[in-house]
Amino acid sequence: MSRDLFRPALSHNLELKNRIVMAPMTRNRALGNIPQDLVATYYGQRSGAGLIVTEGTSPSPNGLGYPRIPGIFSAEQMAGWRQVTNATQAGGSKIFIQLMHTGRIGHSANLPPGAEVLGATSEAAPGEIWTDASGMQPHGTPRAMTEADLQQVIADFVQGAINARNAGFDGVELHSANGYLLEQFLNPVLNQRTDAWGGTKENRARLLLEITRQTASAIGADRVGIRLSPHGVFNSMAPYPEVETEYAWLAAQLAELKVAYLHLVDHSPMGAPPVPEATKAAIRKAFVGTLILCGGYDRARAQAALDAGQADLIAFGRPFIANPDLVERLQNGSPLADPDPATFYTPGAAGYTDYPALG
Ligand SMILES: Cc1cc2nc3c(=O)[nH]c(=O)nc-3n(C[C@H](O)[C@H](O)[C@H](O)COP(=O)(O)O)c2cc1C
Repeated sequence: MSRDLFRPALSHNLELKNRIVMAPMTRNRALGNIPQDLVATYYGQRSGAGLIVTEGTSPSPNGLGYPRIPGIFSAEQMAGWRQVTNATQAGGSKIFIQLMHTGRIGHSANLPPGAEVLGATSEAAPGEIWTDASGMQPHGTPRAMTEADLQQVIADFVQGAINARNAGFDGVELHSANGYLLEQFLNPVLNQRTDAWGGTKENRARLLLEITRQTASAIGADRVGIRLSPHGVFNSMAPYPEVETEYAWLAAQLAELKVAYLHLVDHSPMGAPPVPEATKAAIRKAFVGTLILCGGYDRARAQAALDAGQADLIAFGRPFIANPDLVERLQNGSPLADPDPATFYTPGAAGYTDYPALG
């Protein structure tokens, strides 16, 4: 089967106009945690992608660890997202919302009243986080989640997925990468719990697998994708020797649940340790289904990965920021504009919706 980056693809039941995915990117433009017109304009401009995965979006007030990130738990948020899904679907893209609970990566100053920083344990994340109220602050000290908190968070993810479908999304991506709540449970160095949610790999994966199972039964497994970052060190995730075998095992569990896709992150182009080829190959072998690879791709590398059978879809992150018409530019061999990191996370249109398309 030919896997041309620019040709349509059928992934499960999802018909994609090409194999290019816009990677999830937090942009902090959702004032009051609600995506407004500006956010719809931004995603609409990028609807050349076969599949768009939105920025990390919290299914609960407790998961809004960063300032101005969106939620998907209130009627106002759903109405805002409806504008986004209308804009991208009019452009021919499919769109999944990334469900992200920030866990211990957060600060009370960023959370709505009554919300709190929660974690697998009460160990605070090292380092600092931006707050609009008081600038950089040490990460908040999380409250270790109780059984009731865990049942609540599972219910929140399921409701978030139902809300997403009602707002017009084609599906959800569960963010189990980059050191946020779900990876905080997966990581054995951080997750020192002694109950059914810590210890063995089965226990540490319980939260992700339970959310996957229940979300799949609520909206359909073919509408649930999972993002993973084996070997990732972002947000103070410590390395551990069993990482490759554990992720291959996890990939097999997710394959059994017949999820829409697995989305693997390799952040070595951003200075992180590389994900060994052997790990990617072990996951590819264990996961029978659509595999997305992300991290530092250009057209040639993307097509080579498709040709070699290493992936079914390729996600591009930073190139989409400054090139709303990225797909056309890649296809025509047009030059790519460079994004300005100074406006990655700032409010307003500058560095967000004002990057022009060519011609
Ligand atoms: C500004 C910015 C925000 C990001 N936010 C998220 C996010 O919300 N969720 C996520 O899973 N990854 C996030 N990422 C990581 C990207 O999805 C992607 O994995 C990374 O940029 C590597 O791909 P690239 O080399 O094509 O940029 C973010 C990256 C950037 C640059």
